[in-house]
Amino acid sequence: MSNRLPVDRVVEEDGSTSWRASPGGLVTAVEPIVEQLGCLWVGWAGSADERIEPFEIGAMRLAPVELSSEDVERYYEGFSNGTLWPLYHDVIAQPEYHREWWDRYQQVNRRFAERVAEAAAEDAIVWVHDYQLQLVPAMLRELRPDLTIAFFLHIPFPPSRLFAQLPWRKRIVEGLLGADVVGFQQVTDAVAFRMTVERFTRAPALGNTVVVPSTPDEGSRTVLAQEFPISIDAEAFAEVARRPEVRRRAEEIREELGNPRTLMLGVDRLDYTKGIRHRLKAYKELLEDGEIDPAETVFVQVATPSRERVDAYRQLRDEVEVTVGRINGDHGTIGRAPLVYLHRGYSREEMVALYLAADVLLVTPLRDGMNLVAKEYAACRLDERGVLVLSEFAGAADELRDALLVNPHDIEGLKAAIVRAALMPLEEQRRRMRSLRRAVDDNDVAHWAAGYLGSVLAAAEARRIGP
Ligand code: G6P
Repeated sequence: MSNRLPVDRVVEEDGSTSWRASPGGLVTAVEPIVEQLGCLWVGWAGSADERIEPFEIGAMRLAPVELSSEDVERYYEGFSNGTLWPLYHDVIAQPEYHREWWDRYQQVNRRFAERVAEAAAEDAIVWVHDYQLQLVPAMLRELRPDLTIAFFLHIPFPPSRLFAQLPWRKRIVEGLLGADVVGFQQVTDAVAFRMTVERFTRAPALGNTVVVPSTPDEGSRTVLAQEFPISIDAEAFAEVARRPEVRRRAEEIREELGNPRTLMLGVDRLDYTKGIRHRLKAYKELLEDGEIDPAETVFVQVATPSRERVDAYRQLRDEVEVTVGRINGDHGTIGRAPLVYLHRGYSREEMVALYLAADVLLVTPLRDGMNLVAKEYAACRLDERGVLVLSEFAGAADELRDALLVNPHDIEGLKAAIVRAALMPLEEQRRRMRSLRRAVDDNDVAHWAAGYLGSVLAAAEARRIGP
């Protein structure tokens, strides 16, 4: 179960409805596993006040949970994305703490837990995903003690001194400790969580585990709290990258852009954690300084619309669009814009064509749990060319050591890395890209699932045998 299903219900202007792939890394990573295992996926279909019956896509069975407009406002836009998202991303934006948002978060978490409690077979394994559903593990354990419960957090877990701000901190930690396995992206997240547990509950941490003391209803339990860095289905991306029509489309993209010497690409949800402001600032200064020639370079920024009714996102969009206009106004010519800004999402095929067309990919988040776009780029570069500029604050930087690593707050450093990427000799590109591709292939999503689900199955077995 996750807040969002892998497909989103879209209501068109004429009132008709259609489905489209949901945005974000969670779906990219989890969908191939669910397809393979054929499990039931419980989540929201993305529209408010609409009851949708369960349905199937291929081997996936989808069970929609209904959210009212008020749930969307308080649980999703409010507590999930106005409180937890900024708090968990190093307080880049100011988190807001509202009791009515918290109340609604609890109510909606209970609805998800009840829905799964009804649907799950005896002794089933339930896998709960991400920050929107952190209370579900404990609620589910109470409703269905027979289940084995796994949780995975796709975003960073904050350091304990930031988490301490949250008025309901103890309740969130207790919610997560309802799981048998709690998975994180990076070792720092798992360490921060275990320290937080020790600070706000009576449960001691021992190595990678937390021992939850016994209660009148239950003996003491062990919870595994460990990092399992997530990944992509690398071969599925490579397969698309091999298709002749996708390769033709990549050439066509370059032609449409006037065959620039250097094509740079950014692909993000339009989110303030992604460092888009910093990236544009660096690019603007490079054009102003004359270090980048607008006659030879194009930067394509795909910014998928996201959480558009949340204030911080609205402000970001306004700011980015003013900057885009200024850059093109100052440095464009008739028939040539140095910056192409695309405020929309694209199909997998079109994205892969863009990856194949791009000489440089700029992934410069201020904070990111993992960032799968960086891994997708490497998986698609079968020719071992292309340069990845990657923020050291993305979880992916732990594995992709041969990217050009940058601190996106350091605009001078970022500018130097962009210039270096644009001028990198082919041999160095190949050496680095080969290493990136190896890292992605060795740790693809099947590897991740085997490690994570292996631990979950071991937990299920341990529960069956008993203490
Ligand atoms: C990130 C989160 C996901 C979320 C996705 C898209 O990847 O980890 O939980 O689904 O962003 O955001 P949205 O708010 O549109 O679901």
